[in-house]
Amino acid sequence: MDSQTNKLAFELAFDDGWRYAPAPESTDHIRLDKQYELFIGGEFVAPQEGRYFPSINPATEEQLASIALATAPDIDAAVAAARKAYGKWSKVTAAERGKLVYRLARMLQERSREFATIESLDGGKPIRESRDIDIPLAAAHFFYYAGWADKLGYAFPGRTPRSLGVAAQIIPWNFPLLMLAWKIAPAIACGNTVVLKPAETTPLTALKFAELVQDAGLPPGVVNIVTGAGDTGAALVNHPGVDKIAFTGSTDVGRIIQKAIAGTGKRYTLELGGKAANIIFADAAIDQAVEGIVNGIFFNQGHVCCAGSRLFVQESVADEVVQKLRDRMETLIIGDPLDKNTDIGAINSREQLERIRSYLKIGEEEGAEMHQSSCPVPDRGYWCRPTIFTGVSQSNRIVQEEIFGPVLAVQTFRTLEEGLTKANNTPYGLSGGVWTDKGAKIFKMTQGVRAGVIWANTFNKFDPTSPFGGYKESGVGREGGLHGLGAYLSLEG
Ligand code: NAI
Ligand code: MG
Repeated sequence: MDSQTNKLAFELAFDDGWRYAPAPESTDHIRLDKQYELFIGGEFVAPQEGRYFPSINPATEEQLASIALATAPDIDAAVAAARKAYGKWSKVTAAERGKLVYRLARMLQERSREFATIESLDGGKPIRESRDIDIPLAAAHFFYYAGWADKLGYAFPGRTPRSLGVAAQIIPWNFPLLMLAWKIAPAIACGNTVVLKPAETTPLTALKFAELVQDAGLPPGVVNIVTGAGDTGAALVNHPGVDKIAFTGSTDVGRIIQKAIAGTGKRYTLELGGKAANIIFADAAIDQAVEGIVNGIFFNQGHVCCAGSRLFVQESVADEVVQKLRDRMETLIIGDPLDKNTDIGAINSREQLERIRSYLKIGEEEGAEMHQSSCPVPDRGYWCRPTIFTGVSQSNRIVQEEIFGPVLAVQTFRTLEEGLTKANNTPYGLSGGVWTDKGAKIFKMTQGVRAGVIWANTFNKFDPTSPFGGYKESGVGREGGLHGLGAYLSLEG
């Protein structure tokens, strides 16, 4: 026995306490290149200015690959490639389009383990989530929209659905491949071509997807992937050759985009921020509700536009719920995103960690009481312990502003009307949750809460058939389901 095994045997023999046993996903099965180029016209091409930026692993701060930085001439080339391909793609038979989109769906499924591992490496999310949620849902979106490709006339009876042309698609870093699927699947199923820009911290699964596009035999230029940060996104949005813009990200950038395209006739959908209310009535199944609160705010480190970041608990059960929540938080494991035990992975970037930390400080300065779990966090990488604030009031910034981290603000209410008024006191309107034993209360709340999606006795459930989108500052338009299909078509009589 070497000394390590010896030590382990000793510990096992003489210590019967529970010991943490990591279960890391292997990385042997994935292939990552050192450098990634732009995917334009069906080929990987070097950026015209020759500049690159790193994509790092936020759990280790190590560089994973060097990524091409697209500037205006590259955007010109990508939009031109998409325009050229549109001439052909919009005339391909609908059945053939459907066949190719199905093929992408199947190839994603076949390579799901590789995609899940890369998603967790590049963005910091727990492998359990990328494996069980992100990648299967991404494939499901391709399957769903593939099915519509040759049935558009049935989707919109009495109308003449026509594709729009070239879609510019800009996606965020919280669900990189899933957001790609939300954007690309309906667009190409309807006969459009796309130029997609992934977020600068999480470009790798989009670039791996470009390999699938090549392997699937899609005509060159139907899908183009350009990488870069905000300037690259702005060049794409402002390009005169683009017919439709689909953006998911911050409300601030959504505003910039809306201003920039005013009067241009470009169609657009904007999926922006949120500050969802998760509302727990005294008659709810409390243990299930506590699980729902944990899922609502700690899923994907709270980097979720529809996260349940404002908790409203009916006063008579508030102490019980908060105590159970704190106990449950204590059991959450933070750490290596590739470990299958991990509940909370790495914060996506240093910038985002700093933003979250600034809100923790603001919360304390506003007089709220902060409770964090005591679990250990790794030395390197970007981490934030699950956090709840009690003693907050409606006007507090931590209650009004999107934090986009594992941070929950807890308030109480007495009557249904008070809960409803408080829940609606927000500039956002993306999602919400209601927990109660009574169907009548569910109906009242779901009709009264002004949000695009409301879950009852559950939270964060997604399905490709279900439309998703917001009111007020949470955005314009819907993605998913038939609504999402309509957003990529003109439907004149
Ligand atoms: P962001 O809105 O800047 O980034 C989202 C995407 O937009 C990225 O691909 C980015 O490169 C691109 N982009 C940035 N500036 C652009 C511009 N002027 N024109 C076109 N595209 C542009 O979000 P960021 O800075 O990464 O995160 C800041 C905050 O935004 C977060 O703390 C969170 O509150 C919110 N956010 C919300 C998301 C959501 O899903 N609702 C997703 C990401 C961020
Ligand atoms: Mg990265």
